[in-house]
Amino acid sequence: MRGAVASPGVNTSDLGLQRTVRVEVGVGDTVVVYTTRSGHSGALAEQFAAMIDAPAYEVKDVAGHAGLVGFLRAGFQASRRLSAPMGDPGIDLTDVGTVVLVQPIWASNLSPVLRTWLDAHRAELSGARLAMLASQSGSPPERFRSNVEAELGGLVAFAAIPERLAMQERIDRLEALAGCLQPARA
Ligand SMILES: Cc1cc2nc3c(=O)[nH]c(=O)nc-3n(C[C@H](O)[C@H](O)[C@H](O)COP(=O)(O)O)c2cc1C
Repeated sequence: MRGAVASPGVNTSDLGLQRTVRVEVGVGDTVVVYTTRSGHSGALAEQFAAMIDAPAYEVKDVAGHAGLVGFLRAGFQASRRLSAPMGDPGIDLTDVGTVVLVQPIWASNLSPVLRTWLDAHRAELSGARLAMLASQSGSPPERFRSNVEAELGGLVAFAAIPERLAMQERIDRLEALAGCLQPARA
């Protein structure tokens, strides 16, 4: 795969990760694809990728949403369900079975840059399962989940992690998310 940002070699002790969960989805089967404005989703993505031993790739927000103008534009684009320009990490999606999308919640909607990435790879992703991991300030996440599922179809796993959540609780929620990625046993 090209353009991996975080790899299975990430030092998990730097991330406060005290336990490692090896999710039996097969190496190369699951990828973590994230976007971030101020770093929380990026850290979450790398922590989760290290936990499940999967690569993480950043979809760059090339127009940027920094500062007050960026904040207002982010809210506008998200609430109107618009797309935004992205820097494609160029993932080889041929053998990918599960994509874990990671993003900040903006106005309870799918990220505008992830929308662009998903649209660009719609054909390649037609057989893939999608999961969502979101960083947020703390609003009830049910509306976000239902908005995302209305656009993308059912998610195989979902978690929303408030920025200020205690590390152990965060690990517990990430482990629960990882457990949902296990293939159903016959
Ligand atoms: C435009 C905008 C809208 C937001 N809307 C929500 C929201 O609906 N619910 C919520 O809990 N947090 C909301 N947030 C807070 C972010 O989701 C939160 O700060 C997140 O952790 C930022 O992640 P990042 O550092 O990866 O950008 C919003 C932030 C921005 C900039």
